[in-house]
Amino acid sequence: MSKQRVLTGITTSGAPHLGNYVGAIRPAVEASLSGEFDSFFFLADYHALIKCQDPDVVHQSTLEIAAAWLALGLDPETVTFYRQSDIPEIPELTWLLTCMTAKGLVNRAHAYKGAVQSNEENGDDADFGINMGLFSYPILMAADILMFNAHKIPVGRDQIQHIEMARDIAQRFNHHYGEHFVLPVAQVDNDMAVLQGLDGRKMSKSYGNTIPLFSTEKKLKKHINKIKTNLLEPGEPKNPDDSAVFQIWQAFATAEQTAEMRVEFANGIAWGEAKKQLFELINQQLDAPRAKYTELMANPAEVEAILLQGAEKARSQSTVLMSSLRQAVGLRRLV
Ligand code: TRP
Repeated sequence: MSKQRVLTGITTSGAPHLGNYVGAIRPAVEASLSGEFDSFFFLADYHALIKCQDPDVVHQSTLEIAAAWLALGLDPETVTFYRQSDIPEIPELTWLLTCMTAKGLVNRAHAYKGAVQSNEENGDDADFGINMGLFSYPILMAADILMFNAHKIPVGRDQIQHIEMARDIAQRFNHHYGEHFVLPVAQVDNDMAVLQGLDGRKMSKSYGNTIPLFSTEKKLKKHINKIKTNLLEPGEPKNPDDSAVFQIWQAFATAEQTAEMRVEFANGIAWGEAKKQLFELINQQLDAPRAKYTELMANPAEVEAILLQGAEKARSQSTVLMSSLRQAVGLRRLV
C-alpha cells in the first residue's frame, strides 16, 4: 500500500513566527521524519498576494520561510518542498475548481465573512477593501491540496473550514467528472495548534501580535517580556488557563514541565520569573536551528536551488494529473 500523503503550506507574507512553528512546521517536519508519510510542504506565495501587496515583503518572506523550514529539519530529499508559484498547474486547477464551486459555499468562509462583518461594524460598504483573492482564497487552497491528492492536512484550528470546503469541492468535481480527487481531512494536533500571541489572541501576522521565530536572543527576550499578563503580584496564585505565557509554555514544554509550571502558577510565580523561564525554554530549542537559519539566509542561491528541484519533483505529478483533468472537463485537442 502506498503511504498516506501529508501536505501543508505557509503563506509568505511576513517573517516566520512561533505560531507557524508550533501549528505547522514542527508537526509537519516530525511527520516527515517518521518515514510514515509522503510529505508535501510548500510556500504559499500566491496566497500572500491576497493580503500583502508589497513585492519586497513577499520576496523576502519567501526566503525567510523557506530557510525556516530547512533550518528546522526538513529534508528536501525525502519530502517534496516547493514554492506554489513554481507550479503553473495550481492556478490552472483553481479555475476548473472555481467553476465547480457554489458561490454560496464561499460566502460562508470565515476570512471573507469576518472582513464583511468588520466593514459593517465600521459603517463601511460591505465590500470595502475586499479583493476577489480574499473571496476565492478557499478555492486556491483547495487546488493546492487536490493537485497532489493529499489525505492529511496538518493545520491550525482556524483552517479546518478551508479543508472542509476542499472536500466539498472535490466531491462535487468527482461526482460530475468522475473520481479524480482524494478527499482530504484536516489534522489538528491538539489545543496547541493555535498558539496565542502577545495579546492573547491567535498569534497571527494579521494581528501584529507575533513572536518571530528567528530573531536574536535579545529580541526574543524582549518579545516574551511583552506578552500581556494581568496585575497579580508575586506570591498571588495565577490561573494558567487564561494565561498566554502558560499556553506558549505548554507548546514547548514536555508534559512533565507543563505539570511543574502549573504548580508554579498555583504557588504564585512572579510574571517576570515565568517569562524568564519561558525564554530559556524556547531559546534552548531554537538555538541550533537559529545558526542554520542564519547560514541559509546568507545563501539565497542555495535555497533557490532547493526550491527549483522541489518544483521539478512536484511538477512531475501535477502535469500528469492536470492533463487528465483537462481531458475530463472537455479541454481536448480537436483531432
Ligand atoms: N491558508 C493557510 C494559512 O494561512 C496556508 C495554506 C495555503 C495552506 N494553502 C494551503 C495550508 C494548503 C494547508 C494546505 O495558514
